[in-house]
Amino acid sequence: MRYVNRRQVLGSLAAGATVAASALAQGKSASKALPIPPASTTPVELARDESYWREVAAYYDRTQGIVNLEHGYWGKMAHPVQDAYVDATRMVNAQNSFYGRKDYDPDAAMAVRRIAEALGAAEEEIVITRNATEAVHNLIRQYRDLRPGDGVLYADVDYPGFKTAMQWLESSRGAKVISIELPSRADQAQILELYMQVLDANPHLKLMLITHISNQHGLVVPVAEIAKEARRRGIDVICDSAQSWGLIDYKVGELGVDWVGFNLHKWIGSPVGVGALYMRRGSLQKIAPYPGESDPEHIDAATRVHMATSNFAAVLAIPAALDFHQAIGGANKEARLRYLRRLWTNEAEGMAHIDVLGGSDEESWSGIGSFRLRGKASIDDAHNLQQVLEKDFGLFTVVRKGLASGGCVRITPQVFNSPGEIGQLVDALHKLKT
Ligand SMILES: Cc1ncc(COP(=O)(O)O)c(C=O)c1O
Repeated sequence: MRYVNRRQVLGSLAAGATVAASALAQGKSASKALPIPPASTTPVELARDESYWREVAAYYDRTQGIVNLEHGYWGKMAHPVQDAYVDATRMVNAQNSFYGRKDYDPDAAMAVRRIAEALGAAEEEIVITRNATEAVHNLIRQYRDLRPGDGVLYADVDYPGFKTAMQWLESSRGAKVISIELPSRADQAQILELYMQVLDANPHLKLMLITHISNQHGLVVPVAEIAKEARRRGIDVICDSAQSWGLIDYKVGELGVDWVGFNLHKWIGSPVGVGALYMRRGSLQKIAPYPGESDPEHIDAATRVHMATSNFAAVLAIPAALDFHQAIGGANKEARLRYLRRLWTNEAEGMAHIDVLGGSDEESWSGIGSFRLRGKASIDDAHNLQQVLEKDFGLFTVVRKGLASGGCVRITPQVFNSPGEIGQLVDALHKLKT
């Protein structure tokens, strides 16, 4: 019995076709084959192919009662992923420790292998975590190359919980904390230039946090270029890619950094509770093992995290999430999400009462964008705006408070949002009064 259950679950995780079979076996709809795009279409062409994206949308249950344009919190499992997760939950619950103690490790290793392949990393460079926070916090906390007076750098566009962790390095390690403010609209050259000025002005910098895509307004930071300069000056970089993997399409090597925190529950569409830590081969010496762990030869990245008992089923569903993501294709997903963002930002940029925030060239922008009413930059203003959108226009969005320029409302469509829903936002923007 044990083997039948486990094979069923693992089979459903291994390949889309089997996922579909497993779903059908449970009486679910036949629409479970993976949404393979039409052949010979470019991502830009596919981005406008509404029949394909309607097919993709059919794989998701929708938020009831409102148009949800807030998918930056976590993504949503497509049906095949949800089925794999539910199957795995049942199996783990039934088999309990007999599974956990005997068979979980190879299954988790398979999930690591899939993440590594998808990111273009080696298996030994990837450790599964519960979220991006666990990955990045461990890097910040366990960074061992810091002496009192060394500088540590973060920016206003960084994730609030990571800014405070960087600030904590002052009280815990005597670091000198430096923070920079990026303009509310910026292109790649301007962002790079600003970082270069700060690096020039602070020769004692030792460690910096760089966010690949800001959770505030979707700004894409030129990580590789900044990291190259940082490396030349002996500054270590921790990269936060929580919001980028799956929102845009890339391999981890392109970032040119040693350490990156990811999650899979935003744009890869895994169950909630899955993250990943990337540590480039040969980079372990500067990050201490998790308290109490030991790695005298600095070769075992897994010692940098201590997950203990955690959500086995979420990890077992990782291959199904990657299958679904890869069936659509990372480049296709990025192009569609950018297209949906442009549908509203192109309109909003022409409205005198709206300030659009984020990239000022397409390279610096992603599928996420933010805005505020012109001259209304307080956090209260942003809350009021969010409420008006929700109560008067039936659009769910979220307030972001971290930018130096003030509060804003973030708009985060997912692959299942339609141009019609974005059109509702554009109508609302026209009607908003300052
Ligand atoms: C830029 C950024 N970094 C880090 C995080 C934290 O991710 P997680 O919830 O997986 O810890 C988020 C979550 O919203 C984020 O947007």
